[in-house]
Amino acid sequence: MSSSQSVSPQKTRTSPPVVLSRRWHWASRQAISFLMQQAVENPDVISLAAGLVDPVTLPVEETQSAVADLLRDPAVARHALQYGTTAGSLRLREQLLKYLARLEKCSVKDLGLESEQIVLTTGSQQLLSLVGEILLDPEDICLVAAPTYFVFLGTLNGLGAQAVAVKTDQDGMCMDALEQKLAELESQGKLDRVKLIYLVSYYENPSGLSLSAERRERVVDIAGRWSKNQKIFILEDTAYRELHYDGPVLPSVWSFDESRESVIQALTFSKSYSPGLRVGFGAVPKSLVTPICDRKGNEDFGSANFNQNLLAIVHEQGLFETHVEMLRNSYREKRDAMLAAADDYFSGLDGVDWVHPHGGLYVWMTLPEEIETSFESELFQRAAQVDEVMYVPGELCYPSATDSMTGVNASPPTNHMRLSFGVQTPEGIDEGMRRLASAVRFTLDRS
Ligand SMILES: Cc1ncc(COP(=O)(O)O)c(C=O)c1O
Repeated sequence: MSSSQSVSPQKTRTSPPVVLSRRWHWASRQAISFLMQQAVENPDVISLAAGLVDPVTLPVEETQSAVADLLRDPAVARHALQYGTTAGSLRLREQLLKYLARLEKCSVKDLGLESEQIVLTTGSQQLLSLVGEILLDPEDICLVAAPTYFVFLGTLNGLGAQAVAVKTDQDGMCMDALEQKLAELESQGKLDRVKLIYLVSYYENPSGLSLSAERRERVVDIAGRWSKNQKIFILEDTAYRELHYDGPVLPSVWSFDESRESVIQALTFSKSYSPGLRVGFGAVPKSLVTPICDRKGNEDFGSANFNQNLLAIVHEQGLFETHVEMLRNSYREKRDAMLAAADDYFSGLDGVDWVHPHGGLYVWMTLPEEIETSFESELFQRAAQVDEVMYVPGELCYPSATDSMTGVNASPPTNHMRLSFGVQTPEGIDEGMRRLASAVRFTLDRS
């Protein structure tokens, strides 16, 4: 054998390129991954960015008691340790009808919902994603508040769909602006592309604002009237509904949909019990139950059955209500600590303003227009590296102007910050706000 023949062909061939799908490309460079990485790489930084829940108030004892109960009877334990169904545990779904009736302040019968219309998912994020997948083809349109939940904006990007911003004020998405946007899209021949209106109706992530009662009723009417050649659904994300500290208790958008065919309500136990269990669910129109379950069948054919059975026991034993009451008290104190610190450290700064939320986990702060808050900005770099404090840049929470196929989104504002009071102690919140004010003052002085 000659020396040239002895060379393995594999050694001389250059490795072929990795060709990833368009769906990967649409989903790449998620801001959430960058933020998580920053937090891990900078352990001394006080994070007012993380949307995690308070570790101290996680329900260890309640969960110990429920696990013991679940494992006590071997037959029940085996059932929970087995695969479940795609739509999820019937035991939990029946509890959830009662739970939803309590939230909606009506009887189970008056909910007008059957247990089959409760679909259990891996966190509510999976439900948001499944709804997007079954309704939106690439270039289809979802109307969103501006600002709104940035992870869902990433989900829409990942589908190649268009998030189109609707003007938003202190009372949430403006209904006149929504009608105007729909009329604009119709005149551009794009109304048939509109399939969804996404609303975080209680204490929006990031703004902390809630949609007013009057607008809740109007949005259902608007979606119905503009459903011409195809239905426009409303995806109501009520992730923070239970974290209510003061102010009026508002009815859900879902409650105004008497047909039960227009609004999908996405709920989660991540904020009100434990995100580690990853139990979320949807109250879903009958026409969407099978499509959602078909799609979920492709992904996992059922979320964690054990966790669902565990949560059923938490509800059956009445452990949930007392826990959530304790949580509200704890987060109210933290919200107050953040607002007091904002008053102490920021009230002397011209052009700085912030929202006073009645619930949720976030304070939305506005800086003078010339102060940029992006990852690349002087403020972010100064805050993270010198003052050792981190926030979420507000511009992440707006549909981006650059990749807009419709060209209907205005340039997002670049002078907002989302500040979370979920994870830090009241003392940590105070210190974080003191540091942040120092970075803002430094940047203001140089502008
Ligand atoms: C507005 C909103 N919706 C949905 C979610 C998803 O939460 P999970 O998947 O844990 O239920 C979050 C998480 O932070 C959120 O802020």
